[in-house]
Amino acid sequence: MEFVLYEQKGAVGIITINREKALNALNSQVLEELEKTFDAVDLDNVRCLILTGAGEKSFVAGADIGEMSTLTKKEAEAFGKKGNDVFRKIETFPIPVIAAVNGFALGGGCEISMSCDIRICSDNAVFGQPEVGLGITPGFGGTQRLARLVSPGMAKQLIYTARNIKAAEAYRIGLVNQVVSAEVNEAGEVTVSAKDALMAAAEKMAAGIAAQAPIAVRNSKKAINDGLQVDMDKAIVIEEKLFGDCFETEDQQAGMGNFLEKDKEKKLKVVPFKNR
Ligand code: CAA
Repeated sequence: MEFVLYEQKGAVGIITINREKALNALNSQVLEELEKTFDAVDLDNVRCLILTGAGEKSFVAGADIGEMSTLTKKEAEAFGKKGNDVFRKIETFPIPVIAAVNGFALGGGCEISMSCDIRICSDNAVFGQPEVGLGITPGFGGTQRLARLVSPGMAKQLIYTARNIKAAEAYRIGLVNQVVSAEVNEAGEVTVSAKDALMAAAEKMAAGIAAQAPIAVRNSKKAINDGLQVDMDKAIVIEEKLFGDCFETEDQQAGMGNFLEKDKEKKLKVVPFKNR
């Protein structure tokens, strides 16, 4: 792969969009490589993914404006579909995906972060949907996911004004779960860069997720995602089914058994998903 890197650390997989010269902008090749990378994740052993961008400056600065500049209406619709298909794959991926947002998350960058389950960012992160300033609408799910994630009014304001917001505001409006700063010593020197601190925080969160019962985590993701698409009467039926699915599994028996035996130290065994 030219533009996407993959690394596995224990039960956590780290996917890095690696097109630093263009601030990790998403062209067709990056989208195709991302799709292949997600398809190749070893779901028997990986329990949580982190998605980030190479370098300190930018997570993803959007869809590739050079590539988009000459598209016809038909080609643009197909390009939108290509991005939407990959982002939907991320959103519905069986295991959680954490976006570790290092710097710019603009246009398609904000959009790909919103297709992840959880967003944490460095304090130099900048979010925005600047598309209307380029004469287009957000095209990789921004009109839909931003409105659902923050609120329709706030999404409309951000999209209509094309205004970028900093990490603190993104946190205030609920777009990100956590903001991570560089570590500085008493002399004011940076001892851990914002990117390194961000990745450490993302890996800690991912490891915390990976330590839980994997069927329960997968089923929780599916229940939340699927339930949000339907009314409450249908949503609770989705929950009941996925709740029931957890029973008679090794995880449920070990998890509840540990509690009943008052054995707080006993951890859930890490066995490959396929053996469950
Ligand atoms: N597409 C293509 N190339 C991009 C890019 C993008 N979205 N963003 C940055 N780059 C490239 C620049 O062209 C530049 O390349 P060269 O060195 O070859 O000239 C390189 O990355 C570095 O960028 P800058 O010199 O502009 O860096 P800067 O620090 O001065 O500015 C920035 C950083 C504010 C993020 C600025 O690059 C910028 O505004 N980028 C575009 C952001 C944007 O509008 N994104 C939305 C795209 S539309 C979209 O995403 C549609 C959709 O929903 C599907």
